[in-house]
Amino acid sequence: MSIPEPIRCPEIKHTQIFINNEFVNSVSGKTFPTINPVNGETITNVQEGDKADVDKAVAVAAKAFELGSPWRRMDASRRGWLLFKFADLVERDIHYLASLETLDCGKPYKNAYGDIVFSLKCIRYYAGWADKIHGKTIPVDGDYFCFTRHEPVGVCGQIIPWNYPIAMFVWKIAPALATGNPIIVKPAEQSPLTALYMGALFKEAGFPAGTVNIIPGYGPTAGAAIANHPNIDKVAFTGSTEIGQLIMQASGVTNLKRVTLELGGKSPNIVFADADMPNAVEWSHEAVMTNMGQCCVAGSRTFVQEDIYDEFVKKSIERAQKRTVGDPYDDNEAGPQIDEDQFGKILALIESGKQQGAKLECGGSRIGDKGYFIQPTVFSGVTDDMRIAKEEIFGPVQQIIKFKTMDEVIARANKTHYGLGAAIFTKDIDKAMTFTQGVRAGTVWVNCYNVVNAQSPFGGFKMSGIGRELGEYGLQQYTEVKNVVMKIPAKNS
Ligand code: NAI
Ligand code: MG
Repeated sequence: MSIPEPIRCPEIKHTQIFINNEFVNSVSGKTFPTINPVNGETITNVQEGDKADVDKAVAVAAKAFELGSPWRRMDASRRGWLLFKFADLVERDIHYLASLETLDCGKPYKNAYGDIVFSLKCIRYYAGWADKIHGKTIPVDGDYFCFTRHEPVGVCGQIIPWNYPIAMFVWKIAPALATGNPIIVKPAEQSPLTALYMGALFKEAGFPAGTVNIIPGYGPTAGAAIANHPNIDKVAFTGSTEIGQLIMQASGVTNLKRVTLELGGKSPNIVFADADMPNAVEWSHEAVMTNMGQCCVAGSRTFVQEDIYDEFVKKSIERAQKRTVGDPYDDNEAGPQIDEDQFGKILALIESGKQQGAKLECGGSRIGDKGYFIQPTVFSGVTDDMRIAKEEIFGPVQQIIKFKTMDEVIARANKTHYGLGAAIFTKDIDKAMTFTQGVRAGTVWVNCYNVVNAQSPFGGFKMSGIGRELGEYGLQQYTEVKNVVMKIPAKNS
């Protein structure tokens, strides 16, 4: 894919809250800074949403959802058309949006661009669904005609993380709008700018006022107001398992929200001795290093069979040392971590790895003296009880762990409360199928990693989440099933 040169100082066009198709200041008048992770400096100040702003958004979203409103009366095909139009506008502005995404979250520009290309597929996939969502007719007992309708759930709150700001935004808004729900979206406080810009694109596309509302702000204030609101019917969240649990609790206090959660992981990536070595080394490297390791499904436990362990470690070190880290507007494979908190957490976990006896093979330190850059890091001699083998690091740190047999590695792969992704590298189809059946994870990759598509489901087993996003499974999370039973007049016999 050939892409245009980035705009290195993209103009910031929107920093206000988007409610009812208007950009407005926060009720409190407060703002918060969004920081450039390349240098730790403030990019701009953004209006800080809180409970009062969420209340305002819920009121207009509820109004947009009233029977007889333009949104409720809109033909399903027209809803799809609006989403197609929105996708066209995102595509029109992709150069600007990718440049802005890089500024706000520090990811390499070509990756930001790629995230938007993927997001376009996702919007268009769901746009196509809008007029193809239908129920069943069911042959019930007696003289009755029975059918089901798949109706929108209602006002949806959607809380977004900072690692894939545009993609995570799109994964949530597209199925919700395709199925006719009004939404209130809270982007992460670290990366609100592209979501706010897209507010203007929703308006330009012609979405009725109140159907899309975007409230930047912090988690414990704006986020918690969404999770606790009695008039929000559903909440969808991507982020830490810890906050996922809080959201789950909050969802049952003032009402009973439908909840979908996409949470953390410690995904096992298994390399058998018969695997294609260069292929396995490269995929395993990318599995954990991509997006600076800030990926929920990162392959952060690399299990390697004992016969090839030493060679695999050697080649993985060589690969990690070649990884280019630097200005995300330049042609680098990696930029900085998102913020000071994440930077500190990752360095502390690297320290714990050293202290608990893992061998630091390369990396392990910050790069430079400003911004949040960390060297690609490889540990060998990692054992299952170490913190680096158990906790989500969310950084560019590869743990290479030795194993002997299939039964053993399945048991060890599953010995975690997470269950998001898993992968196996082997040329033996029987091994691939045995592992695929045995591992408890929402996605299993065979001889590849991180291949995610708009058409197929993504989500976690166990504490990696509830529900699925993407594909037809993702749509089901945004509808309620209404069962309708009609009496058929008695027969003239
Ligand atoms: P977080 O879970 O606190 O933040 C994610 C989103 O939730 C943000 O929009 C935040 O404002 C919001 N939030 C925070 N507290 C909330 C609350 N009480 N109620 C409602 N919303 C709330 O994640 P954070 O602190 O940015 O990162 C911590 C760790 O979480 C990372 O080190 C990583 O391990 C994991 N994480 C996982 C992600 C994933 O893709 N599954 C994405 C981001 C973080
Ligand atoms: Mg947090």
